[in-house]
Amino acid sequence: PEIGCLSIVVLGASGDLAKKKTFPALFNLFRQGFLKSSEVRIFGYARTKISSEDLRERLRGYLNKGKEDSKEDSESLSKFLQLIKYVSGSYDNAEGFQSLNKEILEHESSKNSQPETSRRLFYLALPPSVYPPVCRMIRSYCMNQSDHPGWTRIIVEKPFGKDLSSAEELSTQLGELFDEKQLYRIDHYLGKELVQNLLVLRFANRFFLPLWNRDNIDNVQIVFREDFGTEGRGGYFDEYGIIRDIIQNHLLQVFCLVAMEKPVSLKPEHIRDEKVKVLQSVQPIKLEDVVLGQYDGYKDDPTVSPNSNTPTFASVILRIHNERWEGVPFILKAGKALNSRKAEIRVQFKDVPGDIYKCQKQGRNEFVIRLQPLEAMYMKLTVKKPGLEMSTIQSELDLSYRQRYQDVVIPEAYERLILDTIRGDQQHFVRRDELKAAWEIFTPLLHEIDDGALKPLPYSSGSRGPAKADELLAKAGYVQTHGYIWIPPTL
Ligand code: BG6
Repeated sequence: PEIGCLSIVVLGASGDLAKKKTFPALFNLFRQGFLKSSEVRIFGYARTKISSEDLRERLRGYLNKGKEDSKEDSESLSKFLQLIKYVSGSYDNAEGFQSLNKEILEHESSKNSQPETSRRLFYLALPPSVYPPVCRMIRSYCMNQSDHPGWTRIIVEKPFGKDLSSAEELSTQLGELFDEKQLYRIDHYLGKELVQNLLVLRFANRFFLPLWNRDNIDNVQIVFREDFGTEGRGGYFDEYGIIRDIIQNHLLQVFCLVAMEKPVSLKPEHIRDEKVKVLQSVQPIKLEDVVLGQYDGYKDDPTVSPNSNTPTFASVILRIHNERWEGVPFILKAGKALNSRKAEIRVQFKDVPGDIYKCQKQGRNEFVIRLQPLEAMYMKLTVKKPGLEMSTIQSELDLSYRQRYQDVVIPEAYERLILDTIRGDQQHFVRRDELKAAWEIFTPLLHEIDDGALKPLPYSSGSRGPAKADELLAKAGYVQTHGYIWIPPTL
């Protein structure tokens, strides 16, 4: 149904996040018909003094990249760019926001929608240090003019603070200006196809229900690997490190969905209640359950401090104190400058009791969910080796998305999350108490690292990371499968 005016404001319109993620996501939504020219205007806001035409020309360059230059594409790009206006102003004074409001009002009043609608989405593609002043300005000068129908929603993204107290301070500042239902904290991992599939998989399949617990599962790994370093982002990264950049948010969100109890219903609040509960059941991290690393060459970056103690790799075991998971280690591992790029979940099952095939077997049952690249899930299992001999071999039940869903284009995380915000669905966003619980888990460890009490081990760029991490994995009970490798099917 037509619901009238929508104004999307991208603050920090000339920055990196806006050009790499926000505008491309908006463009894709537009191309698929989710943003209608008759309803939507996009306002770019930043300090740089440029004209609307300048911004459109810049964006044309980025948005064209990688697209085959078909006539249809360039037409829709031109139509999309027509929706964009640029307003320049500072982040902490009234003037800029007053002119922004004027532009939005003009858009809203040019519509003949009855009753007049005023839906305003503010995307803060900005460093968190300016969230409080910007939110204050929005609150004072740019709020929606009518409630029925109408709203104001704010999208923010990590880093939300550096530890528990700074995160809580930021939450309090924003909480004084906006209700929780107006705040959309993005963790883009929650927008990934296979992350969104986790609850369906777990709770809609009889296969998994009876097995998903300490009686059957030996250990769980949640792994993020990148085969490049912190190129170009050394300054940011050195202040935060891999735990704040990846583990405390992205991997921990995945952890929640793997480990949480079944929610009462699919209502966003019910789901988020369960996520908070499992986070609160995580026991304090023991230092012997942590391995840190820093790749050789990291400190050659002039924006990185020459005696930086910042980890670019970390492997951390989380232990959950509840009936389902007591005794099952969850190994969260993330690293930059490793030998491959992928993100996956590995659920390893226990050995078969009284196994009569034990001496022939290559390994345990393992359920692997490959989040990226090449989305897939596969179950490693033992079968009879085909042929005359009566021997066994490790094989797999494989659901590879590219092969199984050949005509489906998997949307980008940001596309989905922006659409969710427009629709008012907070399920895939991080609630304030969830964020707090996440910081509670990692803050003591982070303080040890910041104080220099815990040092990262060196590892060579392009390697598997520090050897100690493999030792930690073995100590946690993970058993390698020998002589088996999963080969993604080719089309
Ligand atoms: C970001 C981190 O949040 O996620 C980056 O700041 C990281 O360091 C990126 O590279 C990874 O996202 P994706 O979607 O490519 O796995």
